[in-house]
Amino acid sequence: MRRVLIVGNWKMNKTASEAVAFVRELKERLPAPSTTVELAVAPPFTALESVRIALGPSFPIQLGAQNMFWEDSGAYTGEVSAPMLKDLGCRYVILGHSERRILFGEQSDGIHKKIRMAFKHGLRPILCIGESLEQREGGTTDTVLTRQLHESLSGLTHDALANLTIAYEPVWAIGTGKAATVDQAVAAHRTIRQALAVTWSPQVADSTRILYGGSVTPQNIESLLSSDQIDGALIGGACLQVDSFATIARIASVPRSIGV
Ligand code: PGA
Repeated sequence: MRRVLIVGNWKMNKTASEAVAFVRELKERLPAPSTTVELAVAPPFTALESVRIALGPSFPIQLGAQNMFWEDSGAYTGEVSAPMLKDLGCRYVILGHSERRILFGEQSDGIHKKIRMAFKHGLRPILCIGESLEQREGGTTDTVLTRQLHESLSGLTHDALANLTIAYEPVWAIGTGKAATVDQAVAAHRTIRQALAVTWSPQVADSTRILYGGSVTPQNIESLLSSDQIDGALIGGACLQVDSFATIARIASVPRSIGV
């Protein structure tokens, strides 16, 4: 059984003090911890430590980072390493987000190295893949997803992949208010699962969580989670307000009954 995972990607939002105020309010508004859903937030690096302290040792929200570099340490001005994130209490690290690929020129070979480094240090990568509007309209969505998957994960063993989460994030849906339909998301998740089964094994395909990301809101989360192909969500804009994040968490904590 894959447990639903809801991750709030704060992107470049909230100072450390704003983050602390947000977390304090969120803790009061969240539903009781549930075994059906796991919650995580990925604040900017500058707020990781204060968020961890504000959450407290036993609060059931995991901490994630939004990026990292592929070396342990060294002369890499401006970068942050896996051991640094691990030491701050991060469980997850988002890698290969389309904003990193498009705005900062990240390539698949670098993402591949980052994934290896995350595994080496016991961080769980959330690998983002997704097609552009042009690629979707050109009918190459499946090819693009399969290629991004292979380029990012080539050579990794079954065992390493046990701690991998994939986020299907169509570029055209991110921050646009135009989420993929459930059918579009399910089709993409099936393509990804099929590629995992062929290249690794049916067990890897079955056990890997695949999240959907791109304009997820309190209004569409329930229908997205109604498919057992969609194991949760990576959420940008809607996780920046306590109200909408708490509502999404509440909806996601209802045990799922329907499978598509
Ligand atoms: P969005 O962002 O929810 O604001 O569309 C999602 C993401 O970039 O992960």
